[in-house]
Amino acid sequence: MKETKTLWWDESLGGIRYIDQTLLPTEYTLIGCTAVDRLITAIRRLEIRGAPALGVAGGYGVALAARTCTGPSFSAYTRAVKKEAGRVRESRPTAVNLSWGVDRVLAQFLAAKDVASARAAALAEAEAIAAEDTRCCHAIGEHGAALLPDRCTVLTHCNAGALACSSWGTALGVIRSAVAAGKEMKVIACETRPLLQGARLTAWELARDGIDVTVITDSMAAHIMRSGAIDAVIVGADRITGDAVFNKIGTYMHAVCARHHGIPFYVAAPLSTFDATRSEREVTIEERGRDEIAVLGNRTLIPDGVPVKNYAFDATPTDLVSAIVTEQGIVRPPLDIGALLSRPGAKRTG
Ligand code: MRU
Repeated sequence: MKETKTLWWDESLGGIRYIDQTLLPTEYTLIGCTAVDRLITAIRRLEIRGAPALGVAGGYGVALAARTCTGPSFSAYTRAVKKEAGRVRESRPTAVNLSWGVDRVLAQFLAAKDVASARAAALAEAEAIAAEDTRCCHAIGEHGAALLPDRCTVLTHCNAGALACSSWGTALGVIRSAVAAGKEMKVIACETRPLLQGARLTAWELARDGIDVTVITDSMAAHIMRSGAIDAVIVGADRITGDAVFNKIGTYMHAVCARHHGIPFYVAAPLSTFDATRSEREVTIEERGRDEIAVLGNRTLIPDGVPVKNYAFDATPTDLVSAIVTEQGIVRPPLDIGALLSRPGAKRTG
């Protein structure tokens, strides 16, 4: 299986190199990003997307700010970097990994005493997040693969694959690790309206690895679950609070449906996706623009003047979740996230 790298620091560029995910599956294009403004645009446009990848991008964003900001004094310089870091942190609201990555790198940056060492510290910490993310995904993969039967069909939603992380993936990491362990896996990928991360990205990744994948419309999921064809549902997460799992819009309906049909519903996510500080009510669910739903290519799908709601994520109550697969092993609700994150060895390593 190919290890797809989604984003990385390119020293010869002096910035971030990443796959533009808006162009897949028809075009594989690498973008070089050397300005914080461009990174923010990339995050907002979903050129870089998926919670762990946003954590890595957030970290590299601070390294980029450290590289590009200037100031008449060291304190003016650090103030400028902090301001840029704040803008990166705010570029999307729901995936907690983004603020986690920014804050983790910013803390190392702020501990330094001069510009050169602050730049070096920021980049080193951002590189550490990227490397740890890949290790976490492989650990998640191994823990999760053990949950799956030797022959099975799993349904997934959105893209929780290599493209959503620095590589390998969380939910798709579980599938990859199961295949690597010799299990016979078939994957049903929900297309994931409106931006089609399932159809465009999950199908691209899995087909590239020779993994059996079939795309369905989101609204077919209940019918297929009822037919008995699905052994498990496995998805990623953007934020896990004590009471809910936030993930791509549509995840909640799969969880309800899986419970109704007695199908296990698994979530795969690193500890960097857990949020001990908020409950479901306190999390902002991103709302995106009308045109993502109302326009397809050059066709208008919804009459002018008719309002549209475009929530990008939903919250699944944790009592619908059979198990959460982390790099530290399997966690089952009810969740005590504070206790989970303060367990010996449970450092939020990305
Ligand atoms: O809007 P996106 O494409 O960033 O949403 C991504 C998802 O919802 C993923 O399922 C989630 O981030 C988990 S990625 C391992």
